[in-house]
Amino acid sequence: MQEQELQALLSQLSPEEKIGQLVQLPASFQEEGNATGPAMQMGLTQEDLALAGSYLGLIGAKKLRKLQETYMARHPHHIPLLFMADIINGYRTVFPIPLAQSCMFDPALVEACASIAAKETAASGVHVTFSPMADLSRDARWGRVMEGGGEDPFVSGQTAAAMVRGYQGKDIRDKGKIGACLKHFAGYGAPEGGRDYNNAELSERTLREDYLPAYRAAVDAGCALVMPSFNTLDRVPSAANAWLLKDILRKEMGFSGMVISDWSAVAELIPHGIARDEKEAAYLALRAGVDMDMSSPVYIKNLKALVEAGKIPLQWIDEAVLRVLTLKNKLGLFENPFKDLDENEESALHLCEAHRQAARKCAEKSFVLLKNEGSLLPLAEPGETAWIGPYVDTQMLNGAWSIFADDGDTLSLRSALALHEKTKNAPTAVGCAIADPDSPVQGFMSAVSLSGVDEAQALREAAALAQKAKNVVLALGEHRECSGEAASRGTLTLPKCQLKLLDSIAEVNPNIIVLLFTGRPLDIRAVQEKAKAILLCWLPGTEGASAAVRTVLGEASPSGRLSMAFPYCVGQLPLHYNHLRTGRPYSGDYKAGRFGSKYQDIPNDPLYPFGFGLTYTEFAYGPVTLSQSSIKKGGGLTASVTVTNVGKRPGEETVQLYLRDECGSVARPVRTLKAFEQVTLKPGESRRVSFRIDESMLRFYDIHMAYTSEPGDFTVFIGPDSRTEKGARFTLKEE
Ligand code: NOJ
Repeated sequence: MQEQELQALLSQLSPEEKIGQLVQLPASFQEEGNATGPAMQMGLTQEDLALAGSYLGLIGAKKLRKLQETYMARHPHHIPLLFMADIINGYRTVFPIPLAQSCMFDPALVEACASIAAKETAASGVHVTFSPMADLSRDARWGRVMEGGGEDPFVSGQTAAAMVRGYQGKDIRDKGKIGACLKHFAGYGAPEGGRDYNNAELSERTLREDYLPAYRAAVDAGCALVMPSFNTLDRVPSAANAWLLKDILRKEMGFSGMVISDWSAVAELIPHGIARDEKEAAYLALRAGVDMDMSSPVYIKNLKALVEAGKIPLQWIDEAVLRVLTLKNKLGLFENPFKDLDENEESALHLCEAHRQAARKCAEKSFVLLKNEGSLLPLAEPGETAWIGPYVDTQMLNGAWSIFADDGDTLSLRSALALHEKTKNAPTAVGCAIADPDSPVQGFMSAVSLSGVDEAQALREAAALAQKAKNVVLALGEHRECSGEAASRGTLTLPKCQLKLLDSIAEVNPNIIVLLFTGRPLDIRAVQEKAKAILLCWLPGTEGASAAVRTVLGEASPSGRLSMAFPYCVGQLPLHYNHLRTGRPYSGDYKAGRFGSKYQDIPNDPLYPFGFGLTYTEFAYGPVTLSQSSIKKGGGLTASVTVTNVGKRPGEETVQLYLRDECGSVARPVRTLKAFEQVTLKPGESRRVSFRIDESMLRFYDIHMAYTSEPGDFTVFIGPDSRTEKGARFTLKEE
């Protein structure tokens, strides 16, 4: 449709029809087909249901074709429905959780995975995914860290932008493409105390400097929608924050797409205590720029009365409706309301071999080797290895958001071992349950039943197996429902039963290789102490188990880097490598005196820092050299380093460049990641890696809140992780 046709359509709509376009209902309402049950509780009538412009959570070509047909036939103007769903790390073929994907430091691969997810989703009739989540997260207590890109603005932004490109391609109208909804704008990843849905306390400078860049990267990549966050910023919930949604998002960032509230967030302005009733909530959200109300009756029940009472200009409604219609138009729904839904394609695409292979490749690349004493990994003789642990025999490897995937399609480690020639006869034992029987694990979509393993017997069997084996691969981790939405934790250790298993195995066999399955960084001091090798597998998806087996055997080599540090313990949180300098930095020497910024009982540094990850080989870095020692505004220089594979196996190294501004008008971080590059080198091979540093990379929000660079000295660090000390200095000259 042309722009004028959309305008013409808008002008023909009645107030009820317009408001209907601003409403998204949950799947359960449609499954019922009429205004009973939950719909009735929400006070919705049959007419409300007939006019609602969008549904979330419905999926499946056959079902959605029928629904679209019936809906459009009934709709007075035959406007198609918009279907959205949470496709977070794959639909039927499940990829590693987004946090794991960000550890690949490989935006092209992230993009490829998102593009596969889009294809599978589009064939099932969905038009938009609620992804990516670009919420910077520095606190592993927050369960949703699994859905984002970790603690660094640059890596989070690269990951989110890559997902947008993968989902949307060049044009969301194209076959196999879907719209991307960036979320949760803004600061949702900074809830106080790490507790989900809690409020964020961020200065405007911190918000702009650290939290907004990742969202901006996704907006620049062209995301079609944005979802405001649940939290308050400066005491205003985002769904009512006109400064955030209009001044920052639309004016500063130039976003012109549609804004949809998070689930019931408009109604939640009442418990937030900034709206007295639904009318006020509707007024505040529409005024702030929320176009569509997800899963709440607030818009549908109140907007008309507000217009009639003269409290809301009709123009506000028209603008919001136009944005909804524009999105439908961009998706091509007016020409083809079914877009790509196709039952044949569904069965051809879902979980096809190519998609499974991509999922395996992605899992392999997302694994992070945290420890490898004596190069125990890869295993030379897998035959003498026992595979033990609760993660040996589970298909729950998908991450809490994989709500449309079937666990039955996911390989367990046990079946992956059985399928591999070298491990088909490997002895296995579960050793204990995934969670303690008294654990408070709650399900997201359904109740969790914690399996009744006979602990004493399971432990005995496992220990007996371990005693006979040369090495033990111990598959441990957090239950997948312990991360994700509404899954915050105040303790980050492994369950008691797993720690007991670790102890019992360590008593009989010192050669322990831990495979760690988790949706968030954990406190793994016990594992670090007892295991010789630790391979972090995250929640790796459909093919994660085969990826793990191949990596243990050395058929794949780990190259992932932590996009989020593993803390020493919970007491360090929140934690991030790019922290500000203090007036009393800690020298690292505890005996040097009391008055340094430190803890009395724990170290300042995390157990494993941002950017960290080992490989099966070793890399040596030469000195950092600069093409010139000073630059002017608008100028730049090249920083280079020679990287050599000094180990015995080929490997991939992620070369990381950090910058430190030595002095600014406001306190500057100790260092900030500005670029990275991956190089694959054979043993003995060297490569010169060069990075361009432009003056624009030195900019920050100065004392006047102007985004600019300040003359002075800068240090460039280039190395394998955020602790690298290899560096060189240059000066940004006065004009
Ligand atoms: C609430 C979550 O915060 C959001 O991320 C998600 O997309 C919506 N529910 C829809 O399921």
